[in-house]
Amino acid sequence: MKGIVLAGGLGTRLDPLTRITNKHLLPIYDKPMIYYPIETLVNAGINDILIVTGGRNAGDFLRLLGNGKEFGLRHINYTYQDGEGGIADALDLAEHFTEGEKICVILGDNIIEGNIVDAMNDFRRQVRGAKVILKDVPDAQRFGVAEMNGDSILGIEEKPANPKSNCAVTGIYMYDSTVFEKIHTLDPSDRGELEITDVNNLYIAEGTMTFSILEGWWTDAGTVDSLRRATNLVAKTGANRLSFHD
Ligand code: DAU
Repeated sequence: MKGIVLAGGLGTRLDPLTRITNKHLLPIYDKPMIYYPIETLVNAGINDILIVTGGRNAGDFLRLLGNGKEFGLRHINYTYQDGEGGIADALDLAEHFTEGEKICVILGDNIIEGNIVDAMNDFRRQVRGAKVILKDVPDAQRFGVAEMNGDSILGIEEKPANPKSNCAVTGIYMYDSTVFEKIHTLDPSDRGELEITDVNNLYIAEGTMTFSILEGWWTDAGTVDSLRRATNLVAKTGANRLSFHD
């Protein structure tokens, strides 16, 4: 399986912090933000990784990460998103890279305490479709929210004013190669973006979406409050732990 880290977008919710650098290069405790999602993929056994970035500071990713030696990688692939067309628009740039393989996509501002090893192994065995990783949160209206019926997901709503559950869809997604056909059918949402939630709802409609529940904490880091929360959580427990018992 190949891995994709989406680190495009303008990070305007963090202005002025993002006026002269890319959001994903900002510090979270002792490392730049982008380190955490890369490590999540590497911990789950992925060593073929594409970073999608954008904006005026794209060259800084190459200077920072090089060929990924720090993560035990031999090579990192990079590509560039023009503008801020949405998460699905950024993912579309990965089509040539995936060469028909299954992929694990992680948003560049998502940080987890633990790992996704079990979810990834389950998805390796899944014949087709997609898998999302869910987490109960107190502020579901900030996220994509899953409507559940026992063991199945009925649908996902993007940032609903009145969430149908507390189950946020984290920014970690696993897809088969049909994801690109699905992206190509999308129209921009009211906020002018190709929405990953629309992609996920297409998988739900065809009955091929599965889910896992994440153990340990999860946070994004795209707002001033969540950036501080991420730093505090990482300082307290560390991130990307392979075991909760050490
Ligand atoms: O964090 C999880 C949430 O991420 C999900 O629950 C939502 O369903 C999903 O839409 C997304 O919500 P946000 O509105 O918080 O996403 P945001 O616009 O902050 O983008 C998150 C990351 O995606 C960002 O750090 C980089 C990447 N991205 C985003 C956009 C809009 C791109 O690479 N290109 C883009 O054009």
